[in-house]
Amino acid sequence: MYHEIDLDKIDLNSEPPTDEPARQYYFMAKCREWVREFERKNGRRPSAFIQTFGCQMNAKDSEKITAVLEYIGYQETEGPLADFVLFNTCTVRENANMKIYGRLGYLKNHKRENPLMKIALCGCMMQEPDEVERIKKSYPFVDLVFGTHNIYKLAELLYTQIQSGRLVMDVWQEPGDIVEDLPGKRKYPFKTGVNIMYGCNNFCSYCIVPYVRGRERSRGPEDILEEIRGLVRDGVKEVMLLGQNVNSYGKTLEHPVSFASLLCRVNEIEGLERIRFMTSHPKDLSDELIDAMAACGKVCSHLHLPLQSGSSRILEKMNRRYTKEQYLGLVSKIRAKLPDISLTTDIIVGFPGETEEDFEETLDVVRSVRYDSAYTFIYSKRSGTPAAAMEDQVPKEVVKERFDRLLKEIQRISAEITDSRVGQTVRVMAEEVNGQDAALITGRLSNNATVHFPGEKGMIGSILDVKLIESRGFYYMGEVVQ
Ligand code: 5AD
Ligand code: SF4
Repeated sequence: MYHEIDLDKIDLNSEPPTDEPARQYYFMAKCREWVREFERKNGRRPSAFIQTFGCQMNAKDSEKITAVLEYIGYQETEGPLADFVLFNTCTVRENANMKIYGRLGYLKNHKRENPLMKIALCGCMMQEPDEVERIKKSYPFVDLVFGTHNIYKLAELLYTQIQSGRLVMDVWQEPGDIVEDLPGKRKYPFKTGVNIMYGCNNFCSYCIVPYVRGRERSRGPEDILEEIRGLVRDGVKEVMLLGQNVNSYGKTLEHPVSFASLLCRVNEIEGLERIRFMTSHPKDLSDELIDAMAACGKVCSHLHLPLQSGSSRILEKMNRRYTKEQYLGLVSKIRAKLPDISLTTDIIVGFPGETEEDFEETLDVVRSVRYDSAYTFIYSKRSGTPAAAMEDQVPKEVVKERFDRLLKEIQRISAEITDSRVGQTVRVMAEEVNGQDAALITGRLSNNATVHFPGEKGMIGSILDVKLIESRGFYYMGEVVQ
């Protein structure tokens, strides 16, 4: 947990400290001085808009970024035309990159109108040298670029940019040390993600993540537990333990610790009510973890277990290191010990060389596992990954047709599963006022499904008993049971 440091007590005439995080607090203080100057000149605080693309990891990184900006004195806004606009980018599929270029094009003219506007880019796409080159060449109005390994340096980079007025670009190809104790901030007061590890060593042949997020590094269990205890003291009831492959947590620590044992220790934290985690690689999911999930009452009844493909032949080409049969065996083992668990998954359609038979195997797994829901993706060629060089890229029309068929099947099963729970009374975390109807509260079941029910703002952050009255395909309408 971060320690509230009084920025006004930092001596700004001294040299910046060399150790972290003290160095960053020094630059936060420097930036705050600049913010005060801005306020004097413009009669308002500078505004900041952060847009996050991609996964939970990026969402967590954006929380950290927002915390630093707020600490400095920026005011967060909803609109994209702020004094500081930052896109936290994703590059896992090509259309994610295209979105960023679209957004930059849109901002270009607005920046002419508001010369105070600073445009910053960070995240996975910035770890790709070709993309950074393109930005330098074609988007000269960008002010700040940093990557996934040096987010903690935001204050220093921002200060350097403010001082120089020029493009500041700092992207590290290799991760540095994990820096603890920076300011914390949460989108929701009652739930948040907690990084337990960074990076990925799996090199699935289609995936760019290992190249942009680096090798696996785990945080020490004590740091994690201390952070969660602090969060709970601060009102958090639910944590999501985050890592690209949480099942290999702790293997590289000086004193190795398993993910299962970490989970049990988190489960013991008093005041914490719900624990989720993301993502599990099927090849590393141990019996010890299944037992821990069964034994730890706070662990939610949900497991996200990416399948990617149901064909053993394609799985091998994907370098997933399990077969269809091993995956199904794992699911049976999980269901035997956790009969009520909701399973969700990720599936890629149109991986190079995927035939109709391979695709049928995927449908077969979908029908036998019966996922509560699934994220389906059209294969996207990422240059630099082994799959990009594979022959037999599947024609677009074929992929589209398979994708639609898969989606239909998933939605059909998902609706059946959702329907089957109607009538039950379940524990629900009230999360927010419904965006469409302010008389409704939107909450989340332990299995991650959502339910909307009549209620009021004061309920947010509490866990309530809600009766599921009606299924609407993949969510419910419900009623609080007194
Ligand atoms: N094309 C399509 N989907 C991909 N994913 C990762 N890389 C690609 C790619 N090149 C999907 C996987 C992963 C999810 C986060 O994104 O299904 O589990
Ligand atoms: Fe990508 Fe595979 Fe690592 Fe997941 S496990 S981040 S799909 S390489």
